Amino acid sequence: MTPTEKLHAHHEKLIGTIRALAERMKVDPADASLLVSYCEEYLVSHAEAEEVTLYTADDDTDFVNHMIHEHKEIKHSLDVVGTSFGRGDLNALDSESRNFMALLEKHFNEEENTLMPRISAKISQQELQALIDEAHQIEAEKKKADVWSLFENDHKRIDLNITLARNSRGDIEKAKLFYSKVKRQLLKHIELEETVLFPAFGEQASDNQMGPVHVMIEEHREITSLIRIPDGRVGEKALLENIDALAAKLAVHNKKEELILYPLINRTLPRADREKVFKECFEGLAAT
Ligand SMILES: [Fe+2]
Ligand SMILES: [Fe+2]
Ligand SMILES: [Fe+2]
Ligand SMILES: [Fe+2]
Repeated sequence: MTPTEKLHAHHEKLIGTIRALAERMKVDPADASLLVSYCEEYLVSHAEAEEVTLYTADDDTDFVNHMIHEHKEIKHSLDVVGTSFGRGDLNALDSESRNFMALLEKHFNEEENTLMPRISAKISQQELQALIDEAHQIEAEKKKADVWSLFENDHKRIDLNITLARNSRGDIEKAKLFYSKVKRQLLKHIELEETVLFPAFGEQASDNQMGPVHVMIEEHREITSLIRIPDGRVGEKALLENIDALAAKLAVHNKKEELILYPLINRTLPRADREKVFKECFEGLAAT
């Protein structure tokens, strides 16, 4: 593969994954959590890296500034997607995620069809390869590996599906559908905490620091005992009562994780470990 082809393949993987996540959101708006987490980790670092590598090889300053400006617009739009999702504002989430995808497609096109051909014509393949290698290295260093955000976004995903189940009052089948998503996603979330995140933290933590982890695991038992897939004949009242009880438990549990445990894990785990945890947990959540 030539350097240009390699960069093209890298772009295709990024945009391909993001497109697939945006499609999922059209059916399941709560899956915005995945789009936001993925882009914060892999897209933002990609943009930051190319600004200080590939973009420096093009001497059309106006065009480079235009491309850097687009990075800012894309990041801003991603932030708006994140806040609309956090507020549970489905209309804003839908329109901003479409805007985000349009900005991104346009930018990738310009990079592939204008920037890359120009750079390839100007510098040798070896020089181009060196720039791309440098870009990859910087991209890896810029990754935030923010497991706190990853798991907090997943709390919001579950919360939104709880809200959608509650809003389906009067349509029991719809309420059950959202509730089954909540159950599946919550079990996966707890499984990843207990089998990936907490054990990785346990390798680095002092006995003292493990205190909050033990409390969280105990609370997981209470939470899982509340989740039950309603049988075919469960009434709306019983279902909604169960959802209310679950939501109340989760509100307290999630706050403790978000305010105490996740920040502590982010601070304590070395970057390389966080990156591994992020990748494994993102894939687990995305498969659910
Ligand atoms: Fe770019
Ligand atoms: Fe790019
Ligand atoms: Fe938890
Ligand atoms: Fe959690």
